[in-house]
Amino acid sequence: MKSTIALLATVWLVTSTTGVAQEWAYQVVETIPPNEIDINAPRMVPGSSRSYSQAEIDDDWNPPDWFPNDHSPLPAVVARGPGNVRACASCHLTSGMGHPESSQLAGLPVEYFMRQMEDFRSGARKDRYWMNDFARELSVEATREAAEYYTAIEPIDWVEVVEADSVPRSYVGDGRMRFRDSSGGTELLGNRIVELPQNRELVTAKHPYAGFIAYVPVGSLARGEELITTGGDGRTIACTICHGAELRGIGEIPSIRGISPLYAVRQLNDIQTGDRAGVQTALMQATVASLTEDDMIAIAAYLASLDP
Ligand code: HEC
Ligand code: HEC
Repeated sequence: MKSTIALLATVWLVTSTTGVAQEWAYQVVETIPPNEIDINAPRMVPGSSRSYSQAEIDDDWNPPDWFPNDHSPLPAVVARGPGNVRACASCHLTSGMGHPESSQLAGLPVEYFMRQMEDFRSGARKDRYWMNDFARELSVEATREAAEYYTAIEPIDWVEVVEADSVPRSYVGDGRMRFRDSSGGTELLGNRIVELPQNRELVTAKHPYAGFIAYVPVGSLARGEELITTGGDGRTIACTICHGAELRGIGEIPSIRGISPLYAVRQLNDIQTGDRAGVQTALMQATVASLTEDDMIAIAAYLASLDP
């Protein structure tokens, strides 16, 4: 009995430290400052003839389509979402580039995409917020339409990576996005990654091409490159074996170039803790088993620094 309790305590300690350590990557809302704009006033973005109010931009069942000529016709599920399922574009954008709190869908292999939705549906892959419910409610046909729409889009350069000790003060606000503190100032980065909009106006308008800047600890890029290309003396497995020499993906294995570093840390952590344990995720398990928080930060920083 005694040894069972001791064992349970050890298991708890191990899982809770690995689970909680990367909490910063999950973007939990910290504060929602009072709204300073008129949410019904029309807004525009450079190069688009359309205008939407913030209230319209934030309609999760009819998000803005600033550049309708840039993409093939939006499937209903991407533009409107059926029933309780919100339009995919409200979070993943019409460009499929997504925001750090969601994910990039542009260019994902269809079979990989379908499998993730199946894993969300079965619960083998857990998302704290949305995707399990959406996947359960969506028909296979609608899921495939979304997959085929997004797979045809070429990802664009989305994240600028900067190594820094001190970073702009920021908070996680509305929509679980991290924003610069309007009162200015800086703070120590410590062991985490801070990912902020390059242009807050455009990002809050859900502009399809408005990317992010990621502040990472000094030394992360060189360490990440070493882990990714060599496996770091047995710490992990060289990613190139499965994701391809240039990490552009092979067959159903997705490209990991240029992805949001917060998204990457969440995936490495979720696979390590078992929150992501889908049919083919087992292939990643040996890769992540011994990774520390610092290793995950370094790997994510280097991946984000690559052009897509
Ligand atoms: C309210 C926001 C939101 C909406 C709307 C949304 N998603 Fe997601 N999506 C997420 C989040 C959050 C994640 C998971 C991020 C993570 O694991 O850290 C995600 C992840 C995914 C992934 C996994 C990507 C990968 O690289 O493995 C797929 C596939 C996906 N979503 C498809 C869809 C489809 C299809 C729709 C439309 C029916 C949709 N999503 C609508 C928030 C959203
Ligand atoms: C033995 C093969 C293998 C190796 C080695 C490997 N991966 Fe993977 N990786 C996969 C497979 C397969 C998937 C898709 C898993 C699934 O379907 O859930 C994947 C998925 C991922 C994802 C999630 C992508 C997304 O869009 O959600 C990330 C991030 C990732 N790998 C990073 C890495 C990194 C970083 C390394 C090296 C340190 C690495 N992988 C090494 C096979 C591998």
